[in-house]
Amino acid sequence: MTTAAALPDALSDAARSFAGGPHRLVIGGERPEAADGRTFETFDPATGRPIAEVPYAGAEDVDRAVRAAREAFEHGPWADVSAAQRTRAMLALADAVEAHADELAELESLDNGKPLKLAKRVDVRLAVEHLRYFAGWPTKIEGETLPVAQPNMHCYTRKEPVGVCGQIIPWNFPLLMAAWKVAPALAAGCTTVLKPAEQTPLTAVRFAELALEAGVPEGVLNVVTGGGETGVALVDHPDVDKIAFTGSTAVGREIGAKAGRALKRVTLELGGKSPNIILPDADLKAAIKGSYQAIYYNTGQACNAGSRLFVHRDEYDDVLAALVEAAGKARLGPGLDPGTQLGPLISAEQEERVRGYIEAGKAEGAELVTGGGKRGDGGWFIEPTLFSATRDDLTIAREEIFGPVLVALPYESIEEVARRANDTEYGLAAGVWTRDLRSAHKLAALLRAGDVWVNTWTAGDPAAPFGGFKASGVGREHGRLGLEAYLENKTVWVNYG
Ligand code: NAI
Ligand code: MG
Repeated sequence: MTTAAALPDALSDAARSFAGGPHRLVIGGERPEAADGRTFETFDPATGRPIAEVPYAGAEDVDRAVRAAREAFEHGPWADVSAAQRTRAMLALADAVEAHADELAELESLDNGKPLKLAKRVDVRLAVEHLRYFAGWPTKIEGETLPVAQPNMHCYTRKEPVGVCGQIIPWNFPLLMAAWKVAPALAAGCTTVLKPAEQTPLTAVRFAELALEAGVPEGVLNVVTGGGETGVALVDHPDVDKIAFTGSTAVGREIGAKAGRALKRVTLELGGKSPNIILPDADLKAAIKGSYQAIYYNTGQACNAGSRLFVHRDEYDDVLAALVEAAGKARLGPGLDPGTQLGPLISAEQEERVRGYIEAGKAEGAELVTGGGKRGDGGWFIEPTLFSATRDDLTIAREEIFGPVLVALPYESIEEVARRANDTEYGLAAGVWTRDLRSAHKLAALLRAGDVWVNTWTAGDPAAPFGGFKASGVGREHGRLGLEAYLENKTVWVNYG
């Protein structure tokens, strides 16, 4: 067992005492170990050293968690809770997360590697905002009265919760992804079994503890820590009504196929290779700053990273020179170090994947303009990397890298760049930098992506739907559409003739 003494000095007592463990599953009101006693280690990506051991939930544990969620949904307190009470429980949970913002941000920074101030300003703050936004929904979930042709017939609809959800999340924004999943489920009246990623299990468990403390009834939010096998057991469980998944396109395809066979409800938020287009009339300073953030934010580990940068031939050299200068100034380091701008990659495996892509870029003839190297020893750091290429069919221009690697590509006309931007299996996001209204709206219509950002990147809000076209996913999260993914429609016919 790892001891808390190995944890970084920068941690507060609260974060240190939680991080060091012992860690347990959250099933109903109980805190069991895995039934077979299996554990795994979660690591500090800045040092490569283990933080703590965490239970590895197997099929038996998943079954217990699904039973607890079913019980709470059918017979337990959640079944009888009014819409207004759901709102209150969710607001109490939001308050609890906010009250523990420093501790949660530290845990996130430790387990994931991201800069502490971003963990607080982005991950924890937005998790609170999502909970508060969806806390407003329960009392606004309304059916309709329908003007049907039959006489003496009262026809109306009810919106009912889908039931027990299995929610599987990735490691790049662990607490925020938990909130994206749990908030609409609770608002709709569902119960859930949440499975955090094996790289970052800590904040999801702390979140579920806070939910219990805040008065969310036992069994409503269960957390099973573990790896892919745990996810498989959750997806395959016959008593799970809906699967919500964020992660790789490969696993998403598998889950989608299984959900199809079992006819479970499913939403998938998958990968991307999002194009970011700088038009000749853009405010270049803003475009360069935004494009830099679009790829290097979170060390490139974002599904909506702007990883293909299309720059008009006339501005190409100037834009690349400015990006090289900015990348050269980036301060890499541990997330808990206040000066850090760019944290490490999540794992040794991810570092190897990203290095493999950098090698493929060089081997296939792209020009390495800056970066490409490893930094430090122990942690999983890669320099912000920029390639220049002229061909769209290179591996690094087609596949999701999920690291700090940008591919710049020159173009000449709007029609050409729209066609090339869309020439991808993905369709999560796209960006346009321009001062011309006609070009902005023309490209917004032409680009096949779930989000189009004009003169900004990664704008988002709990009220604004988010999700992908094509292989980037199925369904939408956030807003009314995000809520509806957790509701069934029932049409009721009452003959009073
Ligand atoms: P992954 O898709 O394997 O993992 C995501 C989650 O799914 C984790 O909780 C994992 O335990 C679970 N999982 C894994 N296999 C499963 C299965 N067969 N059934 C059910 N659940 C399963 O992603 P991984 O391996 O962590 O990262 C690989 C690549 O995926 C990254 O390089 C990146 O390209 C992409 N990715 C995309 C994300 C996004 O936000 N869209 C987030 C994380 C990764
Ligand atoms: Mg970790």
